[in-house]
Amino acid sequence: MAILEKHKILEKNATLLLIFSFLVVTIGGIVQITPLFYLENTIEEVEGVRPYTPLELTGRDIYVREGCYVCHSQMIRPMRDEVERYGHYSLAAESMYDHPFQWGSKRTGPDLARVGSRYSDEWHIDHLRDPRSVVPESIMPSYGFLLDRMITPDHIRDRLRTDSAVGVPYTEEMLQNAVADFRAQADPFGDPALQERYPGAQMRNFDRQPQLTEMDALIAYLQVLGTMVDFSTFEPDPNR
Ligand code: HEC
Repeated sequence: MAILEKHKILEKNATLLLIFSFLVVTIGGIVQITPLFYLENTIEEVEGVRPYTPLELTGRDIYVREGCYVCHSQMIRPMRDEVERYGHYSLAAESMYDHPFQWGSKRTGPDLARVGSRYSDEWHIDHLRDPRSVVPESIMPSYGFLLDRMITPDHIRDRLRTDSAVGVPYTEEMLQNAVADFRAQADPFGDPALQERYPGAQMRNFDRQPQLTEMDALIAYLQVLGTMVDFSTFEPDPNR
């Protein structure tokens, strides 16, 4: 066959073979990569998912700082044992505003992707202060010092701005109100305008102390985990 005869030329000439191999790999690479530049979004948008409030975001930074991810994952896999234990499997959209994401794979403790609203604030305070007081066999470390560490909104606007630089859609209004929102969320008499900017944001004194502490922020964060999407009405779209 003529074409195979011609292929012989390639097989016998190492330089030519190298050039053509390179061409083939380049074309393959372009075919895979180019569509990604034209896709608006690789994540299916899901109703309810919103950026973190200033206080939740502060709590998230404390979560990362304390290395909670070393023992806890935040991704429920679509397998029966996981779904029965933790709830609906995690959607990509649920961590689309997480920088960096906290999926993880190490589960010394349970997955926390849907721990929000599962326990009361008091339970979290007791558990973080002394895990053995509520779960006698627990090996989780104590984080009682969070109750004594005050937080201030000094850098919160810049913090939000940093996330918006990597694509989190904080509006100008959210940035302007960052300091007020930071304080309002843990204040039972705080301005409910917060909930217009961040629908469904929980507002109360999370740590049951008059001061604004790291415990407030961390519990505000834990209590929102996995609660943004309403799974009683959510339907996955197989065509996306
Ligand atoms: C050394 C590993 C380890 C670290 C670090 C750790 N945990 Fe845990 N965590 C556990 C274990 C084990 C459990 C299960 C026993 C228990 O409930 O205490 C647990 C349970 C929990 C639970 C209850 C989950 C459920 O569904 O019952 C929460 C909430 C939690 N941890 C939050 C945190 C937070 C927040 C941090 C960081 C400040 C943290 N953990 C750090 C090991 C750890």
